[in-house]
Amino acid sequence: MEEITVEKIEKMSYTDFVGFINQWNVLPGSFNTLSKWKVFSNLDKNSNILEIACSTGFSSREIASLSNCKGKAFDISKLSIASAIKNKKIYTPKIKINYFVENAYKFNTKERFTHILLGATLKFFTKEEEIFKKCIAHLEEGGFILASPFYAKSQIPRGLILKSQKIFGITPTTEPYKDIIKIYRGLEVIYEERNNLVKETDEELEHYCNSTAERACKERKIKNKDLYDAIYKRLLEIKKTTNELRNYQGYLVLVLRYRKKIYPKRYVELF
Ligand SMILES: C[S@@+](CC[C@H](N)C(=O)[O-])C[C@H]1O[C@@H](n2cnc3c(N)ncnc32)[C@H](O)[C@@H]1O
Repeated sequence: MEEITVEKIEKMSYTDFVGFINQWNVLPGSFNTLSKWKVFSNLDKNSNILEIACSTGFSSREIASLSNCKGKAFDISKLSIASAIKNKKIYTPKIKINYFVENAYKFNTKERFTHILLGATLKFFTKEEEIFKKCIAHLEEGGFILASPFYAKSQIPRGLILKSQKIFGITPTTEPYKDIIKIYRGLEVIYEERNNLVKETDEELEHYCNSTAERACKERKIKNKDLYDAIYKRLLEIKKTTNELRNYQGYLVLVLRYRKKIYPKRYVELF
């Protein structure tokens, strides 16, 4: 394997860093959102799910573990999929989810899914509409889109937007609620919730970063303290930036149903 250095850790792209350290890159709301998705979309052992841009596999892995469903999950990052496969083996060996490397723009199959898990992922695509249409095309009649996008509750300071672009390689969500839900128009809102994000304390952030950095070093057989410090430092910077964004953002829990005879019209009041 290629030798890892402090410089490589500092220079890796954000998504490769996540894959490299096996960060459990979770959707907004973490387990809380998964539990609501499961209940309000009747996700169970008969479901066949697809997770788009699954990173290290958290949503599909944990929802499969809660429900015993089957399915597929992919990401464009090889390092993230390698971690997703490893996580399945170590933490949930019985789940029936197949992880593979794929570009969402190119993904195609004749298979149709009962649930497509998006989390906050659409924001990672420059052509959001194209990916969204692809998801609809791969849903079974009566199937669900499960999403949990961020939305801006107040204006994010310019300095924080620039810092987030540098840290995450994308612009954080700056659009308000009504702009964010526009793309899902045409689907039936079976369940929707608007939530605040609670900030984590310094002690909570340190515990999380230490747990993840220690595990990364163990998994990669890294014994050098400088490498541990570089991983810890970069992860803490990521988490501190996420924490700062929490002052200005909320997130939605969305369970949206697709029915051919209705899509993309709307015949009911939203709420
Ligand atoms: C923030 S993570 C998604 C985390 C989680 N799934 C969620 O619900 O928010 C975004 C992921 O999108 C992946 N990604 C970006 N472009 C992609 C593409 N064209 N095809 C597949 N995955 C892509 C990145 O590699 C990264 O792992």
